[in-house]
Amino acid sequence: MARIGIVAEQPGESRVAVSPMTVAKIRALGYDVLVETDAGARSSFPDAAYLESGAVVAARSEAWSAEIVLKVNAPTDDELALLQPGATLIALLSPALRPELLERLAERDITALALDAVPRISRAQSMDVLSSMGNIAGYRAVVEAANEFGRFFTGQVTAAGKVPPAKVLVAGAGVAGLAAIGAASSLGAIVRATDPRPEVADQVASIGGAYLPVDVAVDASTDGYAKATSEAYDRRAAELYSEQAADVDIVITTALIPGRAAPRLLTAADVASMKPGSVIVDMAAGQGGNVEGSVAGERVVTENGVVILGYTDLAGRLPQQASQLYGTNLLNLLTLLTPQKDGVFALDEADTVQRAVMVTRGGEVTWPPPPVQVSAAPAPATAAPAPAPEKKTLSPRAKNGLIALGIAALFLVCAVAPPPLPQHFLVLTLSVVIGFYVIGKVAHALHTPLMSVTNAISGIIVVGAMVQITAENLVVQILAAAAVLLASINVFGGFAVTRRMLAMFSKGDDK
Ligand code: NAI
Repeated sequence: MARIGIVAEQPGESRVAVSPMTVAKIRALGYDVLVETDAGARSSFPDAAYLESGAVVAARSEAWSAEIVLKVNAPTDDELALLQPGATLIALLSPALRPELLERLAERDITALALDAVPRISRAQSMDVLSSMGNIAGYRAVVEAANEFGRFFTGQVTAAGKVPPAKVLVAGAGVAGLAAIGAASSLGAIVRATDPRPEVADQVASIGGAYLPVDVAVDASTDGYAKATSEAYDRRAAELYSEQAADVDIVITTALIPGRAAPRLLTAADVASMKPGSVIVDMAAGQGGNVEGSVAGERVVTENGVVILGYTDLAGRLPQQASQLYGTNLLNLLTLLTPQKDGVFALDEADTVQRAVMVTRGGEVTWPPPPVQVSAAPAPATAAPAPAPEKKTLSPRAKNGLIALGIAALFLVCAVAPPPLPQHFLVLTLSVVIGFYVIGKVAHALHTPLMSVTNAISGIIVVGAMVQITAENLVVQILAAAAVLLASINVFGGFAVTRRMLAMFSKGDDK
């Protein structure tokens, strides 16, 4: 049975690789867990909580001597020396950027798994640390911006006068961008967002943002990440940023193409055009920055009074939350690596996910892995993607023609069909019209609960089939019984789905 060591991070990192809640689940996989003294202190997880969950609190050297060591950040040279040859290290290792670290790990015969190399495919979502951290960081970027901003985010009408809502622009609607859009719109701001991938338009809209398209084609993604934008795209986008910078109060930039320096989105002139008191959070400051003038890890105030935050530890500023999610991602990887749940670590190189994270093994550097192809986004039918919010609409002439055709069909059926078909047809037509308008006005986020409740309409089929079940004909009886069964599944399944969806919005005990 292997031992897992959870070691303390360097000063400046507030997260810990595993929270006490997750320790118990790692133990259920058959491992013994050693936690370095005070490893969770900066995330408000005391040693006592780890002891309670079944871990052994151990000295630094003992925790580092475990067969498997779990960590958040890459090890320093001193830490590397504490690892036993043949041990496994799982951490954020930035393999593309740190080839020298991989060499040193291989020299020491360490099997290193880079959590930041988890491929963006559905099966690996539960291990995707970059997404978990991006989500937290996007939320925190809004909190930081709100802290700096001298006004409300939401608009208000007060006895002392009207307060306009803040306007927020989010550049890049990936994981962090979407989290920022959701947080800013839930604070009541007017949120706009742009991204070269037009397929994000619906996601932006569903969490309260307005998508601003840049009408220039970009290559479709094949690995879940964006491709580099063309010069034509960048030119048109630059115009959009200049227009927006002069109008909005807060800009949050999250644009990133993996393996490249962050694209420059806002120039010094754009920043200079912003109102005094405006706030920019450059989430990509650590990768070179999306905003001219941002400094990684720093708060900068420009001459015209714009605050630019280049913090690179946004996820770590919510250490409990970040450690909890990081630990859960680790646990999901360990579960994959321990198929028998017997505390025996079985790395399978034939598995795409395990191969993708494995950066050194058996004294060799095994990075980069063979490419993983995913269909993250449907390929565009034509070179130029349509601006997403502009849904394909019929011309007024075609619309009127269709309405006239429908009315003519209705009259024709009413005139020639024997009763009671005309009445039924009339009811059907009215239902379609009413349904169209009712469902069209429901917010995107409520579509799933709405559709599942609508399944209850199958109740009508149950009633009809129960009437038919007493018929003399055996075939009719069998068909009616089948109809009762299938429609009941629809009704009860619909309610079950609705219940699960609504439970996600319920606060604690209020059922
Ligand atoms: P992601 O890959 O999910 O999203 C990046 C988005 O940028 C994609 O939607 C992509 O289409 C978009 N993009 C690419 N080129 C663009 C361009 N020229 N203009 C506008 N959008 C463009 O990445 P994720 O997880 O959302 O992270 C975003 C950024 O935040 C990264 O730079 C990441 O390193 C950083 N980050 C920063 C943290 C901090 O503490 N400051 C913490 C976590 C992430």
